[in-house]
Amino acid sequence: MNVNGNPTRTIWPTADFAVEIIDQTRLPHEFVTLRLENMRDAERAIRDMQVRGAPLIGVTAAYGVALSMRHHASDAALQATCDMLVKARPTAVNLRWAVERMRALLSPLPAAARAEAAWQEAARIAEQDVEINRAIGQHGLEIIRDIHRQKLARGNSGMVNLLTHCNAGWLATVDWGTALAPVYAAFEAGIPLHVWVDETRPRNQGASLTAWELAQHGVPHTVIVDNAGGHLMQHGLVDLAIVGTDRVTAQGDVCNKIGTYLKALAAKDNGVPFYVAMPVSTLDMDLQDGVQEIPIEERGQDEVTHISGLCDDGQVRRVMVTPQGSRAANYGFDVTPARLVSGLITERGRVAAEAGAIQSALSSKDK
Ligand code: MRU
Repeated sequence: MNVNGNPTRTIWPTADFAVEIIDQTRLPHEFVTLRLENMRDAERAIRDMQVRGAPLIGVTAAYGVALSMRHHASDAALQATCDMLVKARPTAVNLRWAVERMRALLSPLPAAARAEAAWQEAARIAEQDVEINRAIGQHGLEIIRDIHRQKLARGNSGMVNLLTHCNAGWLATVDWGTALAPVYAAFEAGIPLHVWVDETRPRNQGASLTAWELAQHGVPHTVIVDNAGGHLMQHGLVDLAIVGTDRVTAQGDVCNKIGTYLKALAAKDNGVPFYVAMPVSTLDMDLQDGVQEIPIEERGQDEVTHISGLCDDGQVRRVMVTPQGSRAANYGFDVTPARLVSGLITERGRVAAEAGAIQSALSSKDK
């Protein structure tokens, strides 16, 4: 997608076998790129959320394995690298998926062949991510187009108002995004649309990242506080919600950024379609009941007690918003039960959030 009018990805390899990323902790006020030279750089970038979003975390980890193999390609180094990267963040299953794909490819190879094979495989995973998201965009476009046509048929302007939570745009992937891929596809198809952007406390991925990338691409949007969605839905101001996800269980329970569940409840109560956009690699077929079984990342209290932003003097500063000494809890994700999900938008098409449909979507092609 575009940054200052230039097509840009979130991660790219350099000619001298390093990897560059956009440091997402500096957005929206500063556009800074970072160079990752070894596995520890990649692990830190994931843990400190310089890269974030389930698919991008997976791609960064794959490159982390590749960077490691350039320095040490023994069996022990391969196992230690994979074991360390997989723990960098617990909730997004794409991280485990990408690391295990690298481990499975590299383990049988002689050490001397691992560096080159790892580099090529990481690049392949990155390219596949782009193609998968493009396909998700096309499948989601059909939903937006249907709503647009229905509104026109009712004598309405045809403007589609969509709500999204957190950032599941191109910044969360290599390109296009998952939840925002249909938005970009519809925008390019000339369908009039507007996006309600949940700010997404505590780290404000909506306010800082989704708003930034939509603005860079010229997509009309409005940032709202996280608690506004229900009110907007009650007043007919939301035609559909699309969110991303970090893990979907075999029965269709959806884990995503904290607050997603409340949006899904409000959507159900108001008859607003609630879709989840995801690559098939986000399925975790080992789990059934997402509420009981998905590990939920708990992060530092300071992300709740403090907030940072651009001050009037042009400096980015961090300030405290709670009283000194108040404890804070920081659950990163929640689980939306399948019964609240209108459908999953995958690269293989629309899939019902239900065990049988998920199983047949999974077997429809080799993963
Ligand atoms: O904590 P983050 O910023 O990594 O959380 C991101 C989300 O919750 C996204 O919605 C999810 O990873 C899907 S990204 C396409």
